[in-house]
Amino acid sequence: MKDLPTSPPVIEQHIFSQKTQQIAISPHQKILNSLFSNTFMVGTSLAIALDNKSIEEHPVIKLVNLCMVYRTAYMETMALDDINLHIRKGEFVAVMGPSGCGKSTLLNIVGMIDTPASGEYWFDGQEIAKRSENALVDLRKRNIGFIFQNFNLIDDLSVAENVDLPLLYLGLSRGERKQKVAEALALVGLENRARHKPQELSGGQQQRVAVARSVVGNPKLILADEPTGNLDTKNGDDVMQMLAMLKSRGTTILMVTHSPEHGARADRIIYMLDGRIDARIDARVDTGVDTRIDARLEGRMLGEAQ
Ligand SMILES: Nc1ncnc2c1ncn2[C@@H]1O[C@H](COP(=O)(O)OP(=O)(O)O)[C@@H](O)[C@H]1O
Ligand SMILES: [Mg+2]
Repeated sequence: MKDLPTSPPVIEQHIFSQKTQQIAISPHQKILNSLFSNTFMVGTSLAIALDNKSIEEHPVIKLVNLCMVYRTAYMETMALDDINLHIRKGEFVAVMGPSGCGKSTLLNIVGMIDTPASGEYWFDGQEIAKRSENALVDLRKRNIGFIFQNFNLIDDLSVAENVDLPLLYLGLSRGERKQKVAEALALVGLENRARHKPQELSGGQQQRVAVARSVVGNPKLILADEPTGNLDTKNGDDVMQMLAMLKSRGTTILMVTHSPEHGARADRIIYMLDGRIDARIDARVDTGVDTRIDARLEGRMLGEAQ
């Protein structure tokens, strides 16, 4: 195991406003709203990346002393507690840890769905706190694709229309969109299901549609929150293979998983506990998972189930 990295240097001290977060809308609802709100934007032509890029040193995500507090009428939860994290361009990073430890909160903040209570978040060299709400929406829609445990497809839309959704924001012509949707569906092996409705597909196929939707706009970053959680082993492995393929094309991926096997396919596993990063471990596919970590994970998972 490698030595734990030291905290990243603080480039500039900037603390987000400390005002309390009143939760009127759940983060999950906010993600859905952000995905499907009817905002059109002028955009540049984007293509699905086909070149093989290696991991670059430049961090696409940098979190410095980041904290997130949820306050309700009854209690206060420190969902993220002093998180320091660098994720480089092209890295595939898995996040593991027991239920309630802050994994989804981390993804929501990295996905610009929520803003932290304090600390810094730098995305691709830009400090997020300094951006307006509209600028953040624009940054998110151009750069980040989401995959969820429960697919989050719109039942009334066809497969192709679901995949087309992120492109609506980018102001592309109908012809360009059609071509990109076809490419994305071919990428996940569903080119012959374009006219189907999500309900006419298996769970595994629905998640493939969600993968196609996440990549169709050629995002820099894909956030996947337990993408294999509702799938059987075979379909789960297929989704992991697709994520590995996207990584090989240079996309940065941050994935929450409960599966040590799926975590092992990432370049690195971040283990969280009680809102903190507990350990950072290199777990490359070719070296396999560190068995000591496996044992620890199993202990924690068992503890969680009891
Ligand atoms: N909208 C919310 N309001 C209040 N507390 C929340 C909210 N979302 C998450 N929490 C709390 O924050 C902690 C972290 O939650 P979450 O990030 O969803 O954990 P995980 O994804 O690891 O299961 C939990 O204690 C959870 O109950
Ligand atoms: Mg979660």
